[in-house]
Amino acid sequence: FEVPVAVNEPVKSYAPGSAERKEVSETYKKMYNSTVEVPLYINGIDIKTGDTGTMSPPHDHKHVLGTYHKAEKKHVEEAISTALEARKKWSVMPWEQRAAIFLRAAELLAGPYRAKINAATMLAQSKTIHQAEIDAACELIDFLRFNVQFMTEIYAEQPESTSDAWNRLEYRPLEGFIYAITPFNFTAIAANLPASAAMLGNVVVWKPSDSQIYSAKVIMDVFKEAGVPAGVINVVMGDPVMITDTLLASPDFSGIHFTGSTHVFKDIWQKIGTNIHNYKTYPRIVGETGGKDFIVAHKTSNPKQVATAIARGAFEFQGQKCSAASRCYISKSIWKDVEKFLKEDVASFKMGSPEDMSNFITAVIHEGSFDKLASYINQAKKDNDAEIIAGGNYDKSKGYFIEPTVIKTNNPKYATMCTELFGPVVTIYVFEDNAWEETLHLVDETSEYALTGAVFSEDRYALETAVRILENAAGNFYINDKPTGAVVGQQPFGGARASGTNDKAGSKLNLYRWLSPRMVKETF
Ligand code: ALA
Repeated sequence: FEVPVAVNEPVKSYAPGSAERKEVSETYKKMYNSTVEVPLYINGIDIKTGDTGTMSPPHDHKHVLGTYHKAEKKHVEEAISTALEARKKWSVMPWEQRAAIFLRAAELLAGPYRAKINAATMLAQSKTIHQAEIDAACELIDFLRFNVQFMTEIYAEQPESTSDAWNRLEYRPLEGFIYAITPFNFTAIAANLPASAAMLGNVVVWKPSDSQIYSAKVIMDVFKEAGVPAGVINVVMGDPVMITDTLLASPDFSGIHFTGSTHVFKDIWQKIGTNIHNYKTYPRIVGETGGKDFIVAHKTSNPKQVATAIARGAFEFQGQKCSAASRCYISKSIWKDVEKFLKEDVASFKMGSPEDMSNFITAVIHEGSFDKLASYINQAKKDNDAEIIAGGNYDKSKGYFIEPTVIKTNNPKYATMCTELFGPVVTIYVFEDNAWEETLHLVDETSEYALTGAVFSEDRYALETAVRILENAAGNFYINDKPTGAVVGQQPFGGARASGTNDKAGSKLNLYRWLSPRMVKETF
């Protein structure tokens, strides 16, 4: 049961003058200046339906990158039947063969496809090269390598046997097919949701986000080249309600692997409930659904460290991370220093197109997101209990650009302290130095989410109090660090409450959900 030991893929620097910078820059330009057509992918065949949508860079929304084809109901049904047919061979394929395919995919991404997956992510999801490298290259490669290793570790977990009774656990895939719904904000998550289930012998129907279709196409090219057989992962795009309803109506639906919004996940859960009598098996429901992630800083914490954590936690990746810091509680005696450092950090951030690799922040994903963020910023400009202390400008004439914005409020339940905005806006509330416990309860009670959170202090008693009071407030809890940037194989990732089913992506805990083991006892 041994595979090559998984190691995290080193992050390349893309320093000015480096070969990798030149390569990704040329790839980006080439992809910008040509058009791509993305068909459905069913049973290993590209299907052009003729009903198309267009893809544009969020930072340059008048430019067209290409088109993608939308599925009709019959295509979704075909994806189901094709997956079930493929399952006959794939589910009994020896694990070494499945492992080898996904390890090969990791190497293709680490080498020949690295520039392409990064450029697609930069162009269509508006990520800087550094953001793309961390996500679309390294995290995706890590998911593939580590999950292969976790898979083999699980297979090796066997019960005790005796001389007259041989106990064997067979870790079989689920009976039926799995539906993967994936988000725009991480190319790595988009690839991991179908791939982690598939590597365990499952078959998948995958619907990527409309905003992530370009990099989804590159992922499928990689999976194909790596040897994922026809029908094992099928890609459908188009009307999400029709696609979901069609898939959930199938008696062979056996699980959903989801990352997206809370309300969509709850709707899906409800639909699964409505269909429950039709299913052959109880479906597995695994979802990661957002956050309203906190930083809370005690009076003993280091102001520079806290400011950097806010700036990086809130604004890296344009704040479009479910883990992004978006509500901060700062003790009064350190606030002036934190404010000074935070303003300096924010002023140093350059915003613009990913093509200019010196930019730190680019555009938000689409007009809907831009309009939502702009309206909260406008409201904060008007409200008496809020003030904008950094940023606050926005412009959508060329791309959907929102300046990194810091709102300060004296109302701990102010709208932007409670609502997930999914963009580069962070809100600060300053609390009295002697109100530590009270503030921790406030942190716990303010949000319906429980994904990530960070506490800063140099005082062990203060930290211990935070660890205890915030026990259920974050699935990924950071002490003296920003609440973002979980690394596969190091910090399994996921949250509870309205943030999801806490099935910890990037760990064995997630993989167990895609298995339906058979216990075999043979007596002699
Ligand atoms: N896994 C990502 C992070 O931790 C979302 O920031």
